[in-house]
This record gives sequence, C-alpha cells and structure tokens, in this order.
Amino acid sequence: MNTSILQRLRRLLASIIARAPGKVNRILRVGAPADDGYHPLVTVFEAVSLYEYVHIEEMPGTVDYIVTVCYLNQAEDPEATHIAAAIPDVDHLAMRALQALRPPATPAVRITVHKSIPTAGGMAGGSADAAATLVAVNALWCLGLSSDELQQIGRSLGADVPACIAGGVTVGVGRGDVLESIDDNVDHHWVLAFSYQGLSTPAVFAQFDRLNLARDLPRKHDIDLHYLTNDLAAAALSLRPELEEIGNVALEAGAQQWIVSGSGPTIAALVGDEATASRVRAAWALLPNVRGTCSVRGPVTGAELCEKLPSW
Ligand code: C5P
Repeated sequence: MNTSILQRLRRLLASIIARAPGKVNRILRVGAPADDGYHPLVTVFEAVSLYEYVHIEEMPGTVDYIVTVCYLNQAEDPEATHIAAAIPDVDHLAMRALQALRPPATPAVRITVHKSIPTAGGMAGGSADAAATLVAVNALWCLGLSSDELQQIGRSLGADVPACIAGGVTVGVGRGDVLESIDDNVDHHWVLAFSYQGLSTPAVFAQFDRLNLARDLPRKHDIDLHYLTNDLAAAALSLRPELEEIGNVALEAGAQQWIVSGSGPTIAALVGDEATASRVRAAWALLPNVRGTCSVRGPVTGAELCEKLPSW
C-alpha cells in the first residue's frame, strides 16, 4: 500500500487513551488458601497517583500488536526506559483485556502501554494495564458498559483489576476482587522505594503458606482503617531481607509508618509533608538496593479516559 493511502486510512481509524492508577494495600489480611489455591483476603486498597497509560490505535491489517514503553524512575535510572519490540503478545494483560471485550469484525489495533508502575512490584501494574485497556476499548467501540460491568469482566483477568477500575479507597474480599467502596477521602502522601528485581506474587503467597502465616480474617466492618498492616510482609521480607532496612531508613528520616506494598518488593512509607518526603527519598537514594523513588498522593480516581498522553 503506498504511503499516502496508508496515511489517509490511518486518519479514518480511531484512537483512544486511558489511564489507570496503581495501588497500595493499606491493609492486607490473608487467610489459609482455598481448594483453588487462592487465598481469601480482607484488604483495603488505596489508588495512588502513579499511572499506566494505554494508547489504543486502530490499524490496517489483521494482527493486534502491543508496544510497551517503560518510564520507571527515568531520572534515577535511564537504563530503565526502553521500548520493547512491537510483538503480538497474547499473554499481556492489556491484550487479554482487549480480547475480553472485542466485538466481532472490529479493526486490528496497536496497544501502546506507557508504564510507570514497576512490573512485579506489588502495586498492580499489570492489573492497571488491563483496567485502562477495558475502559479504553469500552469507549473506542461504544460498548456502553458500566464501571460495575467492566469490574466484573476485570475480575477474570486478575484479582486487582476491579480495584484499579474503581480507584479511590475500596475494601476487597474474596480474592480481593469483590469490592465495596468506602467513604474515606483523607488525603495521603506516600513515598515509594522501588527494587531492582520484582517479586512474583505466587512465590510470595507460596512462601506465606510455607511459613504458616495464615490468620483468621476480620469481618470487613471490624477493620480499623487508621493503621497499616500487611500479612504478606513477613513472607516478602523473608525472601528479600534487605527491604526491612528500606522501611527503617524511612522511619529514621521522619516517615510515620511503612509497609510492603501488596506482595512487594515496593516499600511504601506514609509521610506528613513534602519536606519529609524529600528527606526520605534522599536517604533512600543512598541505599544500594533502591532502584528509584517516587512521591505519590492517594486516594485518586480509578481508570479513566484521557485527552492526551502526559510528557514524561
Ligand atoms: O489474580 P492474580 O492473577 O493477580 O493472582 C496472581 C497469583 O497470586 C495467583 O495465581 C495466586 O497464586 C496468588 N493469589 C492468591 N490469592 C489471592 C490473589 C492472588 O493466592 N487472593
């Protein structure tokens, strides 16, 4: 096809951008695994202002492609920014989200995932990709699905997908995928420490089982929203003992509390103000195991359409 025909065709093809936030689990209580291997949870998600952006463009041809662009800690670690080859990757959660919604006879697409949330970092980066894709595809092809319907579809893609769609503060039970919003709009200031190597969520749950850490779960009405706790922390710390020092350094620099985010290895510390955030980040920057740091707010709104991509 000659270039000008291709350009005209491109103009007729639609494109759309959506973003979805990552999360920290302020409370993550974990029970003994059920027969399907999944662990029952009572958890409080807080969506935070670190986003995955997904740009979906209709394309000539018949094959869907995905391109991943990583911006993780660009300032501290330029090596972390890379563009992966454009490959038809059917296992990517964004691709699976596309397939879950795609009506018959729709054009092929290119999905570009602009990643800021660390992969395998315990912040639901992959789930945010799926959440943003569901919201984008719903709008691109005018499917008219409600947020609740998208959350239902999202549950089959990953336990954290509904929380990334809903945003705000939510209580999750079941696998963490059955959600209830709660009215808790207290603004939090978090600082995050990223690790060089991710932790596999199944590996952390398996370690949790090996260490016999399961406890009776509280009823969701009995949880105290004012303190941070994570039952997976001991399992994550036993796999990565160096994470403890990252948390302790945050306290020495003035943070109020710290937690392992989800299954780790990201460490999230709660701070009272901008000055403390800067002190914690400066102290972390000296630690050999910290790949990069970032300062975020929560809670923020869930997956939504955007007019354009930010400039990174
Ligand atoms: O649902 P998702 O694919 O995000 O879960 C990843 C893995 O984490 C599961 O395969 C399972 O090993 C573990 N998991 C679990 N209990 C949960 C959620 C996740 O054991 N409630």
